[in-house]
Amino acid sequence: MKVLICYFSGTGNTKKVVDAFREQFEKNSCEVTLHCVEKPLEEDLHSFDLVGIAYPVHAFNAPPIIVNFVKSLPKVDNGKRLFIINTSGEPLKLNNISSIKIRKILKKKGFVLHNEYHYCMPYNMIFRHSDSMAYKMWTTASQLIPIDCKEIVSQKDVKLGRVFLGGFLAYVFRIEHWGGRFNGKKYKVNKNCIHCAKCVRDCPTHNIKIEDGHFVFGKNCIMCMRCSFMCPKNAIKIGWFNGWKVNGPYNFNNPNGTEQAKHKNFCKRSYKKYFARSEKKIAENSATA
Ligand SMILES: Cc1cc2nc3c(=O)[nH]c(=O)nc-3n(C[C@H](O)[C@H](O)[C@H](O)COP(=O)(O)O)c2cc1C
Repeated sequence: MKVLICYFSGTGNTKKVVDAFREQFEKNSCEVTLHCVEKPLEEDLHSFDLVGIAYPVHAFNAPPIIVNFVKSLPKVDNGKRLFIINTSGEPLKLNNISSIKIRKILKKKGFVLHNEYHYCMPYNMIFRHSDSMAYKMWTTASQLIPIDCKEIVSQKDVKLGRVFLGGFLAYVFRIEHWGGRFNGKKYKVNKNCIHCAKCVRDCPTHNIKIEDGHFVFGKNCIMCMRCSFMCPKNAIKIGWFNGWKVNGPYNFNNPNGTEQAKHKNFCKRSYKKYFARSEKKIAENSATA
C-alpha cells in the first residue's frame, strides 16, 4: 500500500507524531512518502492508495497553511481514502471541530475520510507544560500510534466525536487566522538577539526579513510560533500574546521533571479523561495482541 502524509508542524510536535506513523506504516509493509506543506506538492495523488493530512490545532481550527494546501489539491478519483491526524495542547472535545473546514473541501475533491486521530502534545503557546507532562503525553501517543496505524491499514473506520454547532464555532474561532496576521506585524526582537537569523531561515511563510540590520515582520504570520519557540536566545516578543509565549524545545525523555506544573488545575478533567481513554485502548489492544 502506498501512503502519502502531508503535514505541517510549527514547532515539531506534529512532525514527531507523523514520524512515528511513518515507522508504523512501514512495519505494516506500506511505502510512505512524507510531504511538508511548506513546499508545493509534486507527487501525483493518483499514485497513492491512502492520503493523510496532519497538523497542529490552532484556535480549534487547522492552520491557514493547511487550509490553503488542501484548497490547492487537485480533484481525485471518487473515493480516495483519507485520514487526518491532529495534535493539540489540551484534550478538550472542542478540538474535534478543527478539521470541519478541510473535511468539507477534501470531500468536494473526491476524498473520503475513514480515520481521524487526535493526540495531546505539549503547548507551544499559552504556557509551558512540565517535562514530566510532555513525557506522559508522548509515551501515550507513541503507544497509541501503532494501534491507530493498524486500524487505518486494516480499514477499520474511526472518527472523532461530533460537537454541537461545531461548524459555527470553528467559523467564529477562525478569526485567529486574521488576528495572527495583524499580531505578526507586532513581533519584535530584543537586545538578546545574536542575529543568527534562524527565525528568518525557518519561517514557513518567509515572513521575517532583515532590512538595514533590523528585523522586519510582515503580514503573513500564521502564528505557528516556530520563530519565538526555537529562538536560541528567547529574543522574540510575539506582540499581544507575549504573555503566552513558550520558548525552547521540550525534553520528552524526562519523566521526573521538577519544573512546577502550571497545568496542575488546568483542564484537569479533560486530561484525566484523555489519559484514561488512551490507557484503556492500549490495555485492550495488548490483551488481544
Ligand atoms: C496560535 C496557536 C493556537 C493554538 N490553539 C490551540 C487550541 O485551540 N487548542 C489546543 O488544544 N491547542 C492549541 N494550540 C497548541 C498546539 O496545537 C500544540 O502545542 C501542538 O501540538 C503544536 O504542534 P506543532 O509543534 O506541530 O506546531 C495552539 C497553538 C498555537 C501556536
